[in-house]
Amino acid sequence: MNNRGFLCHTVDMKFARLLLKINLGRYVLAVLWLTGLTIFSGQRIAHGDQEESFAAEVIHGERLFLETRFAQRFYRFLQKSGNVNKTIDVGDPVLNKTVRFFGLPPYQIPFTDGPFKSQSFNCRSCHLVDEHVIQKELGMRTYVDFASRSPVPHREDDLLVTTRNSPTLVGIAAPRENFVLHVDGEFSSLQQVIIDTLTGRNLGWLPGEYEIAIDHICRILREDNGRGALAAEFGGHSYAEIFSGRKNTRQPVSKSYLIAENKRIDVDKSSCEQVVELSATLINQYIRDLRFAQDETILSPYDIFLQVNGLPLKPNYEETAQQYSRRILHLIESKEKNNLLKFIDNNPNTDDGGFRFHDQEFVFGEQQLAGMKLFFKQQDDSTQGVGNCIACHPAPEFTDFGLHNIGVTQIEYEAIHGAGSFNRLPIPNVAQREMQAEQLLPATHLHPTRQGLFRRPAAEYNSMFTDLGVWNIYLNKDYPLPQKALKNLICSQPELCATEDQALERSIARFKTPTLRNLGHSAPYMHNGQISDLHAVLGFYLAASNSSRNMLLRNADEELSKVHITAVDIQPLVSFLISLYEDYH
Ligand code: HEC
Ligand code: HEC
Repeated sequence: MNNRGFLCHTVDMKFARLLLKINLGRYVLAVLWLTGLTIFSGQRIAHGDQEESFAAEVIHGERLFLETRFAQRFYRFLQKSGNVNKTIDVGDPVLNKTVRFFGLPPYQIPFTDGPFKSQSFNCRSCHLVDEHVIQKELGMRTYVDFASRSPVPHREDDLLVTTRNSPTLVGIAAPRENFVLHVDGEFSSLQQVIIDTLTGRNLGWLPGEYEIAIDHICRILREDNGRGALAAEFGGHSYAEIFSGRKNTRQPVSKSYLIAENKRIDVDKSSCEQVVELSATLINQYIRDLRFAQDETILSPYDIFLQVNGLPLKPNYEETAQQYSRRILHLIESKEKNNLLKFIDNNPNTDDGGFRFHDQEFVFGEQQLAGMKLFFKQQDDSTQGVGNCIACHPAPEFTDFGLHNIGVTQIEYEAIHGAGSFNRLPIPNVAQREMQAEQLLPATHLHPTRQGLFRRPAAEYNSMFTDLGVWNIYLNKDYPLPQKALKNLICSQPELCATEDQALERSIARFKTPTLRNLGHSAPYMHNGQISDLHAVLGFYLAASNSSRNMLLRNADEELSKVHITAVDIQPLVSFLISLYEDYH
């Protein structure tokens, strides 16, 4: 914990109170679970064995998410020292500092002591939550770091950062048709992402090291003695005990820590694949449990506004998010006409009526309403003041979980290589891509030496570097699992995908739509983390929608050209986005 004498400053008292609450949070949670009380996962936990096992899986999932010994650096330490239960001798130097993006050169700098200094990487290293909450300029996070691109462990490939900005993990597992994850749709299930990450580059493993990684992680899970500091926070059990449901003494693990019976395995008798699979299943339950607006006490001004005005917070059964969003706009407009709308100027869930984790005022007034109408408005007879935002960011999740090109890759590329350069970049068709696969496509377990030039941040020294998003994955035989979902998402109008070449072309520079809830805790924005605040995002939309109407954006989404906003619309839209902030923690 970084102690900078904050307790003495009255301005920081709010943060100090938070600090107490938050650091105790995990213990309080465990105690509440033990006593059978309910907390954020609500009703599910209190009733019946199944719910208890779900809660237990979420607890162990959080521990695994924080486990620092799965990283390749700890594997190297083990080769020297041989003991899974010893503390690593020299932590990963990359973790010494938390890196922050500033939007201006040198863009990304080591800012403050890292929360996992002197340890090796874990999932939380890049998906932060309350680690920096006491530092006013940093604050709470929705499972994202502060970098535009996250620093990775150093290896022989000389890679320094991830290709993309670390995305929020809250709400990403929402059930939907055509389920894909990662911004380029590389994965068709959460389980697959987790296993791939545990054995992948973000924890220091190179593409050819899958088997070593599985064996190493398996060894940690088998040999852990449950006496480490992290284990102590989660009930003090070894992984072998948690996984089998039995203590060393053959006593059962207490009920509140018992995972579902049908999932339990004996780690010594099971294969390493099975052991790692179960750890991923628990992390999976943990991530599934992360949801925005999931409990009354954290609701945003927007949600309270809907509530107070008796408007539905969710779509009806069989109503799509788009239909629901349009219905909300109609309801609001008719209430407004009849002067029946009530505004919000304080938070019913806090003593002082403000946010707990944001500096902004807790309001939903005229300005937010104006922004909301812009946001929800779709093309009609007017071509002014139409946000068309719900085309891709429909309520209540504020994402369609779809794949769209809004020009982010192109703008980063052209900022380096000049206007028009992205349109001139030769992008091969299916057959040509096959021939240039070694150079252009990303490395996989099947092809560990591929260079992936088209899945890299643009760089001055090589004009081939760019990030074409879904194009890397779609119709790529190394990724069979997400192909069906990708096809449905890209080729919703089959006439535009008559040939495979046409379909591939339509995948160029598409990325998954992020949620717009609680953006105050996830800057910088976009898949490349190049936009540092919301005003700049709206400035981006103003420019990008104009460019797409002028046919300057390569493969731009049709819906982008239907965004008709001017400079006067920016402030109301930003105010509306801020009304989607909530006290997620
Ligand atoms: C070095 C930083 C880093 C580490 C460590 C890391 N992640 Fe991530 N994570 C990222 C980045 C960057 C992305 C975005 C990748 C993309 O979309 O191409 C991401 C994406 C994800 C996603 C997909 C989100 C979505 O909406 O598509 C999940 C799930 C996830 N990470 C879970 C984990 C888990 C579980 C671990 C630990 C096993 C972990 N991450 C470790 C940086 C990291
Ligand atoms: C054609 C679909 C589409 C439309 C229309 C659209 N968006 Fe987006 N939005 C996206 C996609 C896709 C991304 C991510 C792009 C990327 O990372 O390359 C995004 C990103 C964002 C982000 C950054 C979020 C983050 O976490 O990085 C904000 C804020 C945003 N959009 C707001 C809006 C607003 C406000 C409107 C209406 C003026 C709008 N969007 C219209 C698809 C759309």
